[in-house]
Amino acid sequence: MAKPATRFVCAECGAAHSKWSGRCDGCGAWNSISEEVPLSAGPSKKSLGGIRGKKVPLGDLASEDAPPPRRTSQLEELDRVLGGGLVDASAVLVGGDPGIGKSTLLLQAAASFARAGAKAVYISGEEATSQVRMRARRLGLADAAVKLGAETNLRDILTTLEAEAPDLAILDSIQTLWSDTVDSAPGSVAQVRACAHELVTFAKRSGTSVILVGHVTKEGQIAGPRVVEHMVDTVLYFEGERGHQFRILRSVKNRFGPADEIGVFEMTGAGLAEVANPSALFLSGRDAPAPGSVVFAGIEGTRPVLCELQALVAPSALANARRTVVGWDSGRLSMILAVLEARCGIPFTGLDVYLNVAGGLRIGEPAADLAVATALLSAREDIALPAEMVVFGEISLSGALRPVGQTENRLKEAAKLGFTKALAPAGSKTGTTSGLETRQMPDLATVVGDMFGAG
Ligand code: TYD
Ligand code: MG
Repeated sequence: MAKPATRFVCAECGAAHSKWSGRCDGCGAWNSISEEVPLSAGPSKKSLGGIRGKKVPLGDLASEDAPPPRRTSQLEELDRVLGGGLVDASAVLVGGDPGIGKSTLLLQAAASFARAGAKAVYISGEEATSQVRMRARRLGLADAAVKLGAETNLRDILTTLEAEAPDLAILDSIQTLWSDTVDSAPGSVAQVRACAHELVTFAKRSGTSVILVGHVTKEGQIAGPRVVEHMVDTVLYFEGERGHQFRILRSVKNRFGPADEIGVFEMTGAGLAEVANPSALFLSGRDAPAPGSVVFAGIEGTRPVLCELQALVAPSALANARRTVVGWDSGRLSMILAVLEARCGIPFTGLDVYLNVAGGLRIGEPAADLAVATALLSAREDIALPAEMVVFGEISLSGALRPVGQTENRLKEAAKLGFTKALAPAGSKTGTTSGLETRQMPDLATVVGDMFGAG
């Protein structure tokens, strides 16, 4: 048989190219293409069908199945992100920057599952067993019945797992594993894909839940876990700013539960601690009302989360004024600046604009538009908003404010934390339970005139 031709594969999106180039046509990423030897020679000339396969039993849609059994870890934040617990025979990918705390989280999870009666195996490809043991001792987990191994050869790992038949297997990390059937270095797209495929197949066949750890680099230089995302049932990202102690576990894909759910943890000297009330944490350390500071009542997954948005507007010394955003989308900031200029007559030309979500949270909701706009106005006009007010609402390009979902939940959470006022779009379904004094505004120009006396 002819030797399979080498291909060039993008580490970002997995697209295959026939020759190397600096930029991937598929996703536009730069310098992400590397040479790979393909997994197999591809399909043979003869069609597969009707020759040697066996007949697969087919069911119908109406037959009833019991809901998938779930195993809870007693770590409530983790269980919620998983959709109520870990499903048997499922494959989970936990991605995140190096050093963010993935190994710590999963060691704690393994210990919790083990204490709840599950048979857990933790295989580290990065650390020696003595190092993992040392960490476990420091975290107070040494008594948990977790079986520990340090191995990178997939064949040996699978043999071990087949023999042990655990309920849960954690592999830290997928980038360090290598399969001897694939002729490229550990961490390459082909290896990562082949190892993930083997492990997912093992999970489905044996009933063991497999949790894979994957590193993501900001540049995507290493074959990211992106190629694995399609294969697994659940994808969780562990994120947070290095300088902050908060860590957020976010589900971006979940075949067994809602996506976009978050769990909040705090990195302490004794490992990760669960944060049951994130709003209180994100708002702690808030000073007296200052211009540019606004409290946004947001929803993360199924939970309301209050956080502080901070804006700073200062005269620019540069020809192109700066627009710097931490924790929010910079394109969306440009849009709001354009709406403020075009619909309210408030220009930001010649002014540097900085926007920060305090506490290291990242907000993806358009409902933060109005909070951002008021923070920008408050900073520009040097007028502080009332400290007891929360803000939310979406801004359309016409300058009109649009109501957002779960208004009542947002208001309830704000009331719980002692807020008494809210600024919301006209037509919001506020309900009667929260007791907040809600000011409803039809458009951004009204907000500007009413609260800042400008425009
Ligand atoms: P780690 O779990 O090794 O990260 P990852 O597996 O994602 O690369 O965590 C590394 C960081 O966590 C390290 O910088 C130290 C910090 N840390 C604590 O602050 N407290 C702790 O108890 C532990 C175990 C780690
Ligand atoms: Mg690690």
